Amino acid sequence: MTLNRSRRHRRLAALAAAAAVAAVSAMAVTTAGAAEEDPVDAAQAKVDNPYEGAQVYVNPQWSARAAAEPGGDAIADQPTGVWLDRISAIEGNDSPTTGSMGLRDHLDEAVAQGADVIQIVIYNLPGRDCAALASNGELPADAIDRYKNEYIDPIVEIQSDPAYAGLRIVNVIEIDSLPNLVTNVSPRPTATANCDTMKANGNYVDGVSYAAAELGALPNTYNYLDAGHHGWIGWADANPQYDNFNASAALFGSLIGENGMTADHVHGFITNTANYSALEEPYWEVDQVVSGQPINQNPNVKWVDWNDFNGEIDFSTAFREELVANGFNEDIGMLIDTSRNGWGGPDRPAGPSSSTDPATFVDESRIDRRYQKGNWCNQAGAGLGERPQVNPEAGIDAYVWIKPPGESDGSSEYIENDEGKGFDQMCDPNYEGNIRNGNNPSGARGEMPLSGHWSSEQFQELLANAYPPLN
Ligand code: BGC
Repeated sequence: MTLNRSRRHRRLAALAAAAAVAAVSAMAVTTAGAAEEDPVDAAQAKVDNPYEGAQVYVNPQWSARAAAEPGGDAIADQPTGVWLDRISAIEGNDSPTTGSMGLRDHLDEAVAQGADVIQIVIYNLPGRDCAALASNGELPADAIDRYKNEYIDPIVEIQSDPAYAGLRIVNVIEIDSLPNLVTNVSPRPTATANCDTMKANGNYVDGVSYAAAELGALPNTYNYLDAGHHGWIGWADANPQYDNFNASAALFGSLIGENGMTADHVHGFITNTANYSALEEPYWEVDQVVSGQPINQNPNVKWVDWNDFNGEIDFSTAFREELVANGFNEDIGMLIDTSRNGWGGPDRPAGPSSSTDPATFVDESRIDRRYQKGNWCNQAGAGLGERPQVNPEAGIDAYVWIKPPGESDGSSEYIENDEGKGFDQMCDPNYEGNIRNGNNPSGARGEMPLSGHWSSEQFQELLANAYPPLN
């Protein structure tokens, strides 16, 4: 499945047509509801794009940290995600990650700010982050009842308080979960024991569908399920051993009907959360012919490695369609986390390479400077990406900053803690890699704290390498 420019433009035209139809039917629903004075169905009462015309909540605790850094004022008023990364974060636990504010405190503050939208990250699955160790979390693989009763139910209770009825609550649901059950399970060589366990016990499917159904039933919530990024699931293939794209969409589709979750409970999907994948590569196309062969069919171009995409815009747009084909509503919207995917700074190429060697051409032309797209931890050289904005592309509801810039992805070496955080070698700058990153160096920054903890050095680098640049 190759996506060239003309195909992308055809897709955009089709999306625009679909959006026009959606707008008409939304108006019809409103009129009918008003005439009969029936309670409007919760899902239908929701607006098409919650970010449209909206002021988005600024987390004062992140904002204060950003503002305290030299130059941080330039971005301290940007909206970022509020991560509920453990049960105690719901009440507020004074942890170095989530800070002292609990969910109610944030919602109250959002009302006080006059915000229209608040972005909450639901992140506490049992057996969390099964292919890595830096963010495993507090709940063991079998703790699905605790997830439902002690984590999701209290969040639903708080979000349903009429005091917050005027807020559109965006819930970003469970980062780095379901695609692991496609790519990191047996018999693939990339399998991990923990991902095999989570596939076998069904608790990711159970947990995500429960969260989406319970949260999605509220009239003012907008669920976006996490869908990885193009460097993770951007491969479609007829051979199931190599297909990540279609299988991931099918897995998401299989949630419909579980725990009462319907398509209406899912407003859309988010890609690139806390990752570093570029929105697009400005200087080359993934299927461009170099020296007689399309880049994405050339085995020597390791950076692409047959991937169908070289950026998040094309991937998100295409994955949206595949999700619709798997049962989700035609008007779902995508979000893309652009908090750290700018890749500006001195190493950013200014134009395409003149090399005729395909691998050299790609390596010299690409703005994403990682060793390999499987690298996810504290990438050295990264910069802030596009500032949060609404409707940047057809089918994309917004660019958002869900990962708060300055918060670590994982510690560079083992640090004792009571947060369920392990040490993942992918966060060690000296690690030479494993099969999940094609045995490449980790590319991680050194001297980094536990995941979620603040790194002044990383924050400074993200500012310096921002693209678009800051002023
Ligand atoms: C950590 C969380 C943190 C989040 C946002 C995750 O990697 O595990 O504790 O809240 O990042 O920084």
